[in-house]
Amino acid sequence: MSTIAISRDTSPQSGPPALDVEAVRADFPILGREVNGHPLVYLDSANTSQKPRQVLDALTDYYQRHNANVARSVHTLGTESTEAYEGARATVAAFVGAASPDEVVFTKNSTEAINLVAYAFSNASAAGLAGTGTDPRLRLGPGDEVVISEMEHHSNIVPWQLLCQRSGATLRWFGLTEDGRLDESDLDQIVTERTKLVSLVHMSNILGTVNDLTAITRRVREVGALLLLDCSQSVPHRPVDVAELDADFIVFTGHKMCGPTGIGVLWGRAALLAAMPPVLGGGSMIETVAMSGSTFAPPPARFEAGTPPIAQAIGLGAAVDYLSALGMPAIAAHEELITSYALDALATVPGLRIVGPAEPVGRGGTISFALDGIHPHDVGQILDAQGVQVRVGHHCARPVCVRYGLPATTRASFYLYTTIGEVDSLVRGLEQVRKVFD
Ligand code: ALA
Repeated sequence: MSTIAISRDTSPQSGPPALDVEAVRADFPILGREVNGHPLVYLDSANTSQKPRQVLDALTDYYQRHNANVARSVHTLGTESTEAYEGARATVAAFVGAASPDEVVFTKNSTEAINLVAYAFSNASAAGLAGTGTDPRLRLGPGDEVVISEMEHHSNIVPWQLLCQRSGATLRWFGLTEDGRLDESDLDQIVTERTKLVSLVHMSNILGTVNDLTAITRRVREVGALLLLDCSQSVPHRPVDVAELDADFIVFTGHKMCGPTGIGVLWGRAALLAAMPPVLGGGSMIETVAMSGSTFAPPPARFEAGTPPIAQAIGLGAAVDYLSALGMPAIAAHEELITSYALDALATVPGLRIVGPAEPVGRGGTISFALDGIHPHDVGQILDAQGVQVRVGHHCARPVCVRYGLPATTRASFYLYTTIGEVDSLVRGLEQVRKVFD
């Protein structure tokens, strides 16, 4: 099969050693299957990634050999489980440059991690909550402001709308430029002394934009606010270091980075987590319980009430080991190459408009587009008939679609296992779509 004729040179120039993509693909059993009589072309990794054998084996090994509850038993299996669970925490902490494993709280996903912070603000602001929650940075009320952007996934919009409803605080947001970037022209008017928290996406799940947060971070520090970054789409795809980002919290999710579903991460600065009141009450999060009241364990246990997602955390640890062995710089470089190629190849499809940055700079391997006069659901169905899996809809980021005057988009998203040949299959599929509608 020939490749699409494009002008950009996609051969690796310098930098990390190139990924051996065929060897990578051999690790992912699912990539060998057919869909509708065609080889699977999986271009929906921003939605969820596929899982390598190493992660599947870690899950099976855990359940077959070590399964027991954590932090509760003195028996051998309980000790093995606890060590594996806490080992996964240390692996994840090192992966993002955390100062200590105790800065990593395991959650169900990014959504739960963001909601955890939002409810910690509520609980800290509620009068009379015993024990913790006296840090003024976590108190929110009328006159205070929370800042987000129009680029956010719903999980970084709705929790803050709810928090503002509960607390009487006001929600404000950055708009977007025509080319899919954060509009920072009113930065000093949007982030002010009234701002308590700024919560922004690091890489947009719909536009693919990777936000340069330098000016915003500086302003956040100037006014004494806190910064949360939704790194769900960045941590899986590029090196992310919490010290370099200089945020106060970051969140990400296991299933988008070769790990299982049901496991997410809240990283927070140790002092902030220590100041946060609990959100869910129950077993494992307490120091002592009496009928008259309870005191709480230090983080991260304070935020992990009940039996945690043990196997899922261990699976995430295996996923991090897998990604680390390949090297995040190499993964990022591979995706940059695929993205450059895809942007040029998609530009050859008549009537196709990229929604988001059209140049491969300050963006990742998630490309949304609209095809003149053709609804994305039709595009998705015709592509699916050819084995090409893309996501269509508003991608849980409806304000972005509204901003660009679209009901929905078609989105192709790439990962370490994506090939140039798969991008060609997408483009050929889109040519079929055009033929059906022309
Ligand atoms: N799963 C969501 C997406 O597809 C976040 O972008």
